[in-house]
Amino acid sequence: MAKEKPWSGRFIEATNADVEAFTASIHFDRRLYRHDIMASIAHAQMLAHVGVLTHKERDSIVKGLQEIESEIDAGGFAWSVALEDVHINIEARLIDRIGEVGKKLHTGRSRNDQVATDLRLYLRDGIDAACAAIAQLQTAILDVAEREAQTPAPGFTHLQVAQPITFGHHLLAWFEMLVRDAERLRDARRRMNVMPLGAAALAGTSFPIDRAYTAKLLGFDAPAENSLDAVSDRDFAIEFVSAAAMLMTHLSRLSEELVLWSTPAFDFIELSDAYCTGSSIMPQKKNPDVPELVRGKTGRVNGHLMALLTLMKAQPLAYNKDNQEDKEPVFDTLDTVLGSLRVFAGMLLSMKIKRDNLARAAASGYSTATDLADYLVRKGVAFRDAHEIVGKAVRLAIDSQRELSALALDELKKLSAVVEPDVFEVLTVEGSLKARNHLGGTAPEQVRAAVKRARTRIYRGQ
Ligand code: ARG
Repeated sequence: MAKEKPWSGRFIEATNADVEAFTASIHFDRRLYRHDIMASIAHAQMLAHVGVLTHKERDSIVKGLQEIESEIDAGGFAWSVALEDVHINIEARLIDRIGEVGKKLHTGRSRNDQVATDLRLYLRDGIDAACAAIAQLQTAILDVAEREAQTPAPGFTHLQVAQPITFGHHLLAWFEMLVRDAERLRDARRRMNVMPLGAAALAGTSFPIDRAYTAKLLGFDAPAENSLDAVSDRDFAIEFVSAAAMLMTHLSRLSEELVLWSTPAFDFIELSDAYCTGSSIMPQKKNPDVPELVRGKTGRVNGHLMALLTLMKAQPLAYNKDNQEDKEPVFDTLDTVLGSLRVFAGMLLSMKIKRDNLARAAASGYSTATDLADYLVRKGVAFRDAHEIVGKAVRLAIDSQRELSALALDELKKLSAVVEPDVFEVLTVEGSLKARNHLGGTAPEQVRAAVKRARTRIYRGQ
């Protein structure tokens, strides 16, 4: 068994069985196989380019690696724990298939620069997939926002009805959060797109490698400048998980609103049956499990961020085996983000919006009080005085159990002589909405224009 290991030369005793299982990463890092093979092919091509491998050797290695990839794709690959990780498993299989020449692939590299390269390649694709899923969710949000551009809804502060807004405007706030999330991911991608290969174990290699050549083949912007940094830092993974944690935090806030809105107390929306589950004991229940789970899964991504930060802290240069622990948090973060984004888009498009209930709530809680104050200001009253006058009007409405718009002109005039019959235009929800007609405002006209602009602001790949 020990002889199978590529590093067994200096060892006399076999690895302890528990240690073998403890140090192996093959059960999770096999996910890197496509990117590992891609990087190995580029490395072999570079070695031939500089004359370290003959073209014949290169061709045999490239073909062998391609066949191994198909073997793994087809599910027919026998992963071995004794061979520790994805890199050694694939290399051993290559030697198996093509013989002696397979042993030349590892010239001028180390698993240290190999794994740092693989993970960057993997995350690059992961980020592209996450950005595509964000774009899909953004499109769903805009479709609903456009449809509900003039639907009155309650705007909250402190979860108390504050001012009327349009439902479309509320959804556009969600859209903006996601714009920044996609930006953060792309920004992380840009910084991680630098190639560690050539750093070898830590100090570089004595072979006449051409790192720019390999970098170009792999679509990296440049080779990493410093070999020690290239094999050791995982800040790129931390940045990804950090951007993902922020994204999940946003999805969690959206989820919380969907959960609230679908309770009988709010009753603003009904999630489609396809996105809910029932209770095993209470036959009447229809639970918003999907948004609850997204909210819950935010915790695991936040946890992964803490795990990676803690993993990196206090590591001396250069590579340490600690870094093998970087993969599971990264993989699970990507799975969680993609899964959450995908269910979210469908959930939004299929939910029923209860416009009457939204409109009723929009008019409740004296939500047009600010509009009355603004009205008084336009008639020459100072804002602080207007605030006081309207406070009294609200008091009167509360005491007589009426809406503000139900107060009589006389009653309002008693509070402020400047009030005219046109006051009733601003006391209605429609009037209030129409008045907020500026960029970033909630007026239906503004929402429609914002949706149009937003469609051009969705990131759809570079
Ligand atoms: N499986 C290892 C990892 O994920 C690969 C690098 C191992 N390097 C080493 N010197 N043991 O980090």
